[in-house]
Amino acid sequence: MEMYRRTFAEINLDHLAHNIRVLQKAFPQKFLCPMVKANAYGHGDVQLGRFLEGLGIAHLGVCLIEEGILLRKNGVKAEILVFRGFDREGAEKIIEYQMTPVVSSWDHIEHLEAVATTAVGIHLKFDTGMNRLGFRPEEAQKVFDRLWQNKKIRLKALLTHLFNGDDAENPTGDSARQLQALDRVSQIFKPFNIFCHSLNSAGILSFLKMQKSAVPANHPLALQDWGLRPGLMIYGYNPLADQSFCDLKPVMSLKSHVGVYRHVKSGETVSYGGTWKAKQNSVIAVVPIGYADGYHRILSNQAQVLFAGQRVPVVGTICMDYLMLDVTSVVQGQDLNKFKDQEVTFFGFDNAGNFLSAEELAEKARSITWEMLTSVGERVPRVYSGGR
Ligand SMILES: Cc1ncc(COP(=O)(O)O)c(C=O)c1O
Repeated sequence: MEMYRRTFAEINLDHLAHNIRVLQKAFPQKFLCPMVKANAYGHGDVQLGRFLEGLGIAHLGVCLIEEGILLRKNGVKAEILVFRGFDREGAEKIIEYQMTPVVSSWDHIEHLEAVATTAVGIHLKFDTGMNRLGFRPEEAQKVFDRLWQNKKIRLKALLTHLFNGDDAENPTGDSARQLQALDRVSQIFKPFNIFCHSLNSAGILSFLKMQKSAVPANHPLALQDWGLRPGLMIYGYNPLADQSFCDLKPVMSLKSHVGVYRHVKSGETVSYGGTWKAKQNSVIAVVPIGYADGYHRILSNQAQVLFAGQRVPVVGTICMDYLMLDVTSVVQGQDLNKFKDQEVTFFGFDNAGNFLSAEELAEKARSITWEMLTSVGERVPRVYSGGR
């Protein structure tokens, strides 16, 4: 791979395999559909799609038809669920590339009926509280009537999406109500012999946590054999407050190398707007990564990075292609040649195994871990390790 700037995202496939094994071991029988939308949360959808297939994964979730086509064109054979809606042209592409549409409106049914020549397998989405996509539970009987003995459409599963999965442990919480609602809908669809999937990472991890003792039989999480659609957790992050019960391994490490060092005198400022002023004579490392690479500008004067095994602050305003670090405390009194091309880790693991969490960075950026991972820019090469 051509890389004249040594800024890259290291993707550790052994860590991904570990996270998948956590799921396969805890839930050997359940429907498992890892979400590889948005370029596999920034990790590289083609590489991960192929790798996940090798781990025995039979279903993959994408948002866009384009994402599914890319996987197919690169040899991915797994069943691909397309979550975003589609028009007639989109329906044709879904059929051409043998993908499974998630149907969430009457329009979708019409488009499929218009273009299908044989029965297309679908998953049917119900909106149980997210208020984004899906049929209303009140429409369930009408949808049943439209699909029953439909020659163009074959219903395979029902789904819903939790909007507050963190509360899934609570038997009277938002998630519980959503699961109960889907369960009621599924009674109507029983003649189809379908299953239901509903759990995102927060829901899955809540279930896993409860399993450590025993999930009460009447708990909404135990109402059915809910299928799993993990996103964030397969990439190594647990979105719940309690992290103690499950060991996930972060997959992506965002890294670069110092380009140059500058000596600034006490009182001098660094970068646009002079937002950081040296309180002492300082050594500043200039690193070739910026907001155009997905390292958010809001982290200016906020974030820390790993430099030579230690945390150092990002100082001054983050530029489009560069940012600056105050490395004085680490390099003081030493020959700077010792730190030539020094590796810098923005999140993930450095070469010595020290860790800086993308979750911590997200908090500082007033964002979420999902956004930190998916924002890593297209011009940052993904470098894969492990997985053999
Ligand atoms: C429909 C659907 N299912 C599952 C997921 C996975 O969510 P998470 O990354 O929180 O596990 C998403 C992500 O946004 C989604 O949109």
